[in-house]
Amino acid sequence: MPDRLEAAQQKAGNVFGTVHGPLLPQVICDHGEGVYLFDQEGKRYLDFSGGPHVVSIGHGDPRVRDAMMEQMKKVSFFFRGFWLNEPLLALAERIIEVSPSNLTMCQFCNSGSEANETAIKVARQYHVENGNPEKHMVISRWQSYHGMTLGALSASGHTGRRLKFNPLLHQWPKIGSPLCYRCPYDTTYPGCEIRCARALDEIINQVGAQYVSAFIAESIGGAGTACMVPVPEYYPMIREICDKHDVLFIDDEIICGFGRTGKWFGIEHWGVQPDIITSAKGMTGGYTPMAVAIIDRKIGEVFTEKGASFIHGFTMEGNPVSATACLTVIDIIEKEGLVERSARLGEYFFKKGREKLSGHPVVGDIRGKGLLMGIELVKDKATKEPFDPTLRAANRFQRIAMDKGCMGYPTTGVDNGVRGDTFLVSPPFIITEGEIDAAFDMLDDALGDFEKEFL
Ligand SMILES: Cc1ncc(COP(=O)(O)O)c(C=O)c1O
Repeated sequence: MPDRLEAAQQKAGNVFGTVHGPLLPQVICDHGEGVYLFDQEGKRYLDFSGGPHVVSIGHGDPRVRDAMMEQMKKVSFFFRGFWLNEPLLALAERIIEVSPSNLTMCQFCNSGSEANETAIKVARQYHVENGNPEKHMVISRWQSYHGMTLGALSASGHTGRRLKFNPLLHQWPKIGSPLCYRCPYDTTYPGCEIRCARALDEIINQVGAQYVSAFIAESIGGAGTACMVPVPEYYPMIREICDKHDVLFIDDEIICGFGRTGKWFGIEHWGVQPDIITSAKGMTGGYTPMAVAIIDRKIGEVFTEKGASFIHGFTMEGNPVSATACLTVIDIIEKEGLVERSARLGEYFFKKGREKLSGHPVVGDIRGKGLLMGIELVKDKATKEPFDPTLRAANRFQRIAMDKGCMGYPTTGVDNGVRGDTFLVSPPFIITEGEIDAAFDMLDDALGDFEKEFL
């Protein structure tokens, strides 16, 4: 083993989440360029995971670095509560331009989890100011993932990530996910009459609409459901149910926002306007920690009418260097037509992925949209039986794929929150058709090795 790697592995003990994480990293990342990451031995990895789901414009873009440097030469930090912040104002304006027309204000923060915490608190305070102080519950879906902080984890339906923290979490109601491959209501589309959407109406009636503040959902699924795409009727029905009960619809676009699925926001595929959108990964391109909650005009109007200030905020939120980085990333996405590219290339990406991988006996399903794909790994394709979770099959598959030079994101819990292995791929939007071919060749090869070990 090279000296530097050995030394780094010893020092990894100083980073709690690294040494006590699900997968101890085996290589040191040295640098990135375009769609590639390189380790210290000079080996090249195609970043088919895009981070996961973060790297939109590619690694190492000098335009972002130069813009951040210019801002740092002027000033790196001042507190948003004391000073107006020009890069942040420009960023808010740009985000609102590309958002659904009812969303007219941004609240910034530093991570996806914080954005969902923020949205939950905006919704709660909106109802308090609006004369409905009992409304507080946040309904969500089993197998969803909205973040690791306690409010966001309370809203998350990912059992494996919740179990050890359950006593600390709000036990808010959850409905089944609209995942047709493993329908939680044991029905089949379209005969099901969208039972998974009607479940929201039922649960709101059961707990009492006067107590329900918001419904939160990922427009297209992330880690928990591996890029589940609900049927066309789903979100229009959800919107109608939320309106009927004065429940706000929070659309978690932490993964899907800023072009990942071939539209600026995933929810646009359904033509539905949420009350709050949260987003983070793609708008930063990975150049800075930053996230946003984008808020409906009517919510702002209620705060204004009541002369209320939002009781919330983070010291580092919207700092001018991070704002400059995001502004430059969004500029590049816009000027280079990367949202359209994601839609166009997405067609090729799914065609190629299905051609190369779906014949494998362990590939149960391939789903997603744009440049966001979930591959479900099963022990038995006919019965959809998952692998024994103690085998950590998805993690093992990631290791094999990395050895071949291809990065992806292993996740678990799609079957019952604990069991079920999936592998997500979501490359930078600048990837070429040739690079897509190369990545699927590596994954095809990796699946062959995986099958020798697991079947
Ligand atoms: C859909 C979704 N929401 C929220 C989060 C939490 O974001 P963060 O890790 O930036 O806190 C994630 C992270 O992967 C996510 O995929």
